[in-house]
Amino acid sequence: MATAAARQAMSRPSLLRIIPRPRQQQQLISLRFSSSSSATSSSPPKTPEYAIPDPSRPTHFGYETVTEAEKRKRVAGVFTSVAESYDRMNDLMSFGWHRIWKDHFVSTLNPGFSPLSGSSPSGPQHILDIAGGTGDIAFRMLHHAHVVNANPSVRVTISDINRAMLSVGKARATTDLPASQQEALSFVEANAENLSQTRPLQPILSETEQTFFDPATATSGIPDASVDLYTVAFGIRNFSNIPAALREAHRVLKPGGVFACLEFSKADKWTSIFESLYKEWSFRAIPLIGQLVAGDRDSYQYLVESIERFPSQEEFRDMIVDAGFVVAGKGYEDLTGGVAAIHRGMKPRK
Ligand SMILES: C[S@@+](CC[C@H](N)C(=O)[O-])C[C@H]1O[C@@H](n2cnc3c(N)ncnc32)[C@H](O)[C@@H]1O
Repeated sequence: MATAAARQAMSRPSLLRIIPRPRQQQQLISLRFSSSSSATSSSPPKTPEYAIPDPSRPTHFGYETVTEAEKRKRVAGVFTSVAESYDRMNDLMSFGWHRIWKDHFVSTLNPGFSPLSGSSPSGPQHILDIAGGTGDIAFRMLHHAHVVNANPSVRVTISDINRAMLSVGKARATTDLPASQQEALSFVEANAENLSQTRPLQPILSETEQTFFDPATATSGIPDASVDLYTVAFGIRNFSNIPAALREAHRVLKPGGVFACLEFSKADKWTSIFESLYKEWSFRAIPLIGQLVAGDRDSYQYLVESIERFPSQEEFRDMIVDAGFVVAGKGYEDLTGGVAAIHRGMKPRK
């Protein structure tokens, strides 16, 4: 049986071959996090060719086929263009639902709480929020850890390829977060597909400069096994090479660390009437609202198309397993009948 990643690779001219998922990983799909997984290994399977970024490999940008390098450039253009209006547009596009999904995502991850310390949460934790944009997830993580779980030793790194989005986030943090939470937050420019090249957020000095991260300017990197919780919300569908990003997530997580992704997904059959109404609305109204509110129709057209192109819950779960993670049960939780979904995977301890 071809995995999602293999199916993706098969559609690419340079990779016309099926890459079977190792038997050991197939067995892991139904293991629970708490069950003993002594047969597992924390090192991912040998990196397949499709998980190594290749600037000339075809991928998709909305409904168009472009190279990985071209997609990176165009996605950067989209988010540079929407950065200032992003938060307002999010509310308009989802009727505010994104807030409910994000609250649920964060509360189920329960940052700051350690089940090993009984009822009193404790201990330092490092959370890496990838494609963190203007900070919605990172701010919720900090609030939950520091206030709900009374654990001030949790710190969050918010990372994004786009300096314009991070800059809006930094300005928001300054006005919205108490000083103690601001101190526990750092902003880092990086491409999720290669986290060994990063640099701290730089100020934007002129309107015309490139605002997406150039790896040639990297000054640091995220070390192996240094992160307890890796989160990515509504970001991964924009990546040029998703398997590469999943492998990087596996590399930077500590054994026992958790990968968690919130993303638009495929609605189930019970929600299909609602979904077709939503689809009709999103394809007709969102680009128009984008034009009226943000003066940018094309970027919002891309955002709705990219939602359509993202793999199904099962296909994405298989990609997570292919990257070396163990998933519990079916590996994902549908939200609002599958309009969005949360996927989780754990890096095995051994
Ligand atoms: C829709 S926004 C999501 C922002 C935030 N996580 C949220 O939920 O509001 C998607 C973000 O993904 C970022 N992004 C796209 N490609 C990326 C990449 N290869 N590496 C890191 N971030 C990326 C964009 O710059 C943008 O900020």
